[in-house]
Amino acid sequence: MSKVTVVGAGNVGATCANVLAFNEVADEVVMLDVKEGVSEGKAMDMMQTAQLLGFDTTLVGCTNDYAQTANSDVVVITSGIPRKPGMTREELIGVNAGIVKSVAQNILKHSPNAILIVVSNPMDTMTYLSLKSLGLPKNRIIGMGGALDSSRFKYFLSQALGCNANEVEGMVIGGHGDTTMIPLTRFATYKGLPVTNFLSEEKLNEVASATMVGGATLTKLLGTSAWYAPGAAAAFVVESILHNQKKMIPCSVYLEGEYGESDICIGVPVILGRNGIEKIVKLELNADEKAKFEASAKAVHATNAALKEVGAL
Ligand SMILES: NC(=O)c1ccc[n+]([C@@H]2O[C@H](COP(=O)([O-])OP(=O)(O)OC[C@H]3O[C@@H](n4cnc5c(N)ncnc54)[C@H](O)[C@@H]3O)[C@@H](O)[C@H]2O)c1
Repeated sequence: MSKVTVVGAGNVGATCANVLAFNEVADEVVMLDVKEGVSEGKAMDMMQTAQLLGFDTTLVGCTNDYAQTANSDVVVITSGIPRKPGMTREELIGVNAGIVKSVAQNILKHSPNAILIVVSNPMDTMTYLSLKSLGLPKNRIIGMGGALDSSRFKYFLSQALGCNANEVEGMVIGGHGDTTMIPLTRFATYKGLPVTNFLSEEKLNEVASATMVGGATLTKLLGTSAWYAPGAAAAFVVESILHNQKKMIPCSVYLEGEYGESDICIGVPVILGRNGIEKIVKLELNADEKAKFEASAKAVHATNAALKEVGAL
């Protein structure tokens, strides 16, 4: 019996639960939210699609009842407020730090062995907060941002190339922020060939810029932050762990000297399997990429410092 809990049954959480069920990633998916009846209603609504879509996963919704989340293998934390147009992810720290910390503590009381996936923003800092406050081994705390940003990067690359996004490979590392993420155009490929063979430097710069503001562009269009790709990206990470797929996915993980950084959670490629983070993959960055990574880490450190100011650490 495999069980996944998604905390926060809002836009991202409910989408994640829906994808997990539709793809039968787990036998049971529990959604928990503080809003009375919302998780229960969404779970029932999704269960009424089971026969139409042909899945066997059981969905359960509950209002703040952590007993129902007991013995989860993986827990996805999406609770908190999303940004509104014009806001940065970093501005959410005051509210979300308290929510993420208390949710994670409650979860661990009932699922002491769970692997945690942190989605709430500012995600790198929320991942760091979880790591520092919960005392779990670092392989069990994973921040989801790179899976989404990489998927957006592949989308923009495919648009520029005029091909299907599945023909393209590419990764985004660094912080999960508009100015801190680093789309690695030098490593991106189209059917195994470097994209630099097909696209001009100018075009590749446009793709990188569109990727970096990808979330902000959608926030402006939607009036709140996006959910289909974020929810699907979180489910993608859960699947690699629960099914021991050993996929290489950029995730925010605790670094102790890797990539020249320490005491930080930031996006780097990792292998995800049944033990959570099974390996941090080392990329040989060139001078420009290294400088960008350093600047990104500096910005994430600065946001982490705010955790003390808001009394979360
Ligand atoms: N990491 C990423 O790639 C990524 C992508 C998109 C959004 N996000 C972040 O994910 C978070 C959720 O975004 P959303 O669009 O789903 O927001 P949303 O407002 O639609 O949903 C958030 C839900 O959390 C619930 N909640 C609040 N406090 C709670 C608590 N203590 N316990 C349980 N539930 C609680 C709310 O009731 C709400 O239903 C935001 O912080 C957003 O910035 C991250």
